[in-house]
Amino acid sequence: MKIEGSVALVTGANRGIGKSIVEALRDRGAARIYATARDVGALASLVATDPERIVPLALDVTDRAAVRAAAEKAKDVTVLVNNAGTAQFTGFLSTDDPAAAQADMDVNYFGTLSMIRAFAPKLKANGGGAIVNLASIASFVNFPVLASYSASKAANHSLTQGVRAELKAQGTLVVGVYPGPIDTDMAKDFDAPKAPPEQVATAILDAVASGTEDVFPDETAAGLHAGLQSDPKGTEQQVGEMLPG
Ligand SMILES: NC(=O)c1ccc[n+]([C@@H]2O[C@H](COP(=O)([O-])OP(=O)(O)OC[C@H]3O[C@@H](n4cnc5c(N)ncnc54)[C@H](OP(=O)(O)O)[C@@H]3O)[C@@H](O)[C@H]2O)c1
Repeated sequence: MKIEGSVALVTGANRGIGKSIVEALRDRGAARIYATARDVGALASLVATDPERIVPLALDVTDRAAVRAAAEKAKDVTVLVNNAGTAQFTGFLSTDDPAAAQADMDVNYFGTLSMIRAFAPKLKANGGGAIVNLASIASFVNFPVLASYSASKAANHSLTQGVRAELKAQGTLVVGVYPGPIDTDMAKDFDAPKAPPEQVATAILDAVASGTEDVFPDETAAGLHAGLQSDPKGTEQQVGEMLPG
């Protein structure tokens, strides 16, 4: 579908990859972009770059009432970008407290699920459109330093496949995005080469425009994905060496 003239909504738009996606949508001629964030004040400088087209909305994706209200306010959406995410840098066995694992699941899986449930009927009414889910290369192989995060992103990938099948009849393109390390706050303590968030944003909009379902936007993600095809066990063992400190 065409980006020019589309109406997009991006979660977690105040920083990182989400902010870059809003900027890319703006630069490629989207008609309206709902930039959403938990703290709407954090969107001020982004909105100021094009206040006619960038509409700020307060939205915590774990608040189901707020998600439903956002879908009523942004009824005209044709491209939904589920970007909001959290990452706890812990192993499965680093703690007995389920809170960290729960937090990643609440945002990365249940939050994305709530958004899709609320917006799927709007996309249908608007001709089908597209949903973009920010998963991770950790959807396919567990990174022990990010153990529960990897599990939540595996769930996000499964959600992406399932809704793609369920929404096929209404003509909604469902895109899964599987980045490796990207240079944002989330990965600031992860010691590895990182691609810029603008590269992810460009790859996402190219995929929506061309109808591509699976996106590996950076060299690390593409390399690991290739490794998982050619040598799945070897790749699992290589990634498994990244143990929590
Ligand atoms: N950076 C990487 O290496 C990397 C790699 C693979 C995939 N990803 C995925 O890409 C997406 C964006 O990540 P990023 O690197 O840009 O991370 P980031 O810089 O940490 O930004 C995360 C964004 O998500 C928002 N968020 C967190 N919890 C939320 C909630 N409950 N409701 C609404 N928004 C919420 C944050 O808002 P606040 O400012 O309010 O906290 C922030 O805007 C995530 O889904 C992430 O898992 C990132």
